[in-house]
Amino acid sequence: MARRSLLLSAGSYLPKEILTNADLAKRVDTTDDWISQRTGIKQRHIAAPGELTSDLAVHAAEQALHHAGLRGADIDMLILATTTPDHTFPATATKVQQRIGMKGGFAMDVQAVCSGFVFGLATADNFIRAGQAHRALVIGAETFSRILDWKDRNTCVLFGDGAGAVVLEAGEGDGTSKDRGVLCTHLFSDGTYYDKLYVDGGPSTTQTAGFVHMEGKEVFRHAVVNLAAAVDAAIASAGIKADDVDWLVPHQANRRIIDSMGNKLKLAPEKVVVTIDRHANTSAASIPLALAEAVNDGRIQRGQLVLMEAMGGGFTWGSALIRY
Ligand code: UT7
Repeated sequence: MARRSLLLSAGSYLPKEILTNADLAKRVDTTDDWISQRTGIKQRHIAAPGELTSDLAVHAAEQALHHAGLRGADIDMLILATTTPDHTFPATATKVQQRIGMKGGFAMDVQAVCSGFVFGLATADNFIRAGQAHRALVIGAETFSRILDWKDRNTCVLFGDGAGAVVLEAGEGDGTSKDRGVLCTHLFSDGTYYDKLYVDGGPSTTQTAGFVHMEGKEVFRHAVVNLAAAVDAAIASAGIKADDVDWLVPHQANRRIIDSMGNKLKLAPEKVVVTIDRHANTSAASIPLALAEAVNDGRIQRGQLVLMEAMGGGFTWGSALIRY
């Protein structure tokens, strides 16, 4: 027998305001054509003034709890992946813990930028399999719009705000790839590339939050190679074949990167969950937002194999393979 982290449910939340490419073209020197062709993005959601990362996270968490038929008090571990916390400290996760009525256990933030959800999921899975947690909420939530320089067309067109969440619960399996639950996770980082995608502020440096800077081409080049390696690691470690994968739920940074991973797995385009056109890149929120959409509209069915992969600043990257 093997202890497994079963994926019970998923939830998501998007702020109401939508900013289209045409809206952006009025602010910076860009066009709908450039953004659509280079990235696949058509629009993004933007948090309202005063609407915080914790607010987005609470909405997504409550929806995930509702779909699982659970309450906050039933959760004993909460992991919030975010790069845009409400405050430098305490962890935004503790605010979410209080607001969903989670009385015991523990809550913490995980920072791996766009890979944050995969890092959070891997952390939760390991705590569950070690027997140190029974039911976990893993949330990815971002108000990335707050760390964008709205005059920099290289970055401001790429990102959006949102949140997604999943509930995991300890269960038993046989220890094979036929089990339900998280089958494997693989995490990587390489600080050699710290300055290829970063924010030029922070408590210890400038005492300000700072703005995003990215060497887009360099990040793109590494993303394609690193994500392919993370996908290969998942397939090899689970002892499956690429065509056993039913769904790819990738981080949504660039449509061209998403397509290259879908092609690598020889997946039919409809088996790749794509939200980038409507959400843009929501960093740690992008995978759980996409996952919640495909689980809750009935595309992803119980028993199917779902592969997730992400890459972000650091660089950090990783993959997670789950049988839903
Ligand atoms: O989530 C974390 C991981 N992030 C990623 O994986 C992102 C990876 N990188 C990318 O997705 C792409 O590199 C971008 C979408 C960011 C950029 O696409 P690109 O095809 O690599 O374009 P580029 O940076 O080489 O820029 C091409 C041209 C430049 O003009 P010149 O120098 O060729 O005259 C840019 O100045 O496009 C220009 N440009 C723009 N033009 C119109 C850059 N941003 C814009 C813009 N509108 N918003």
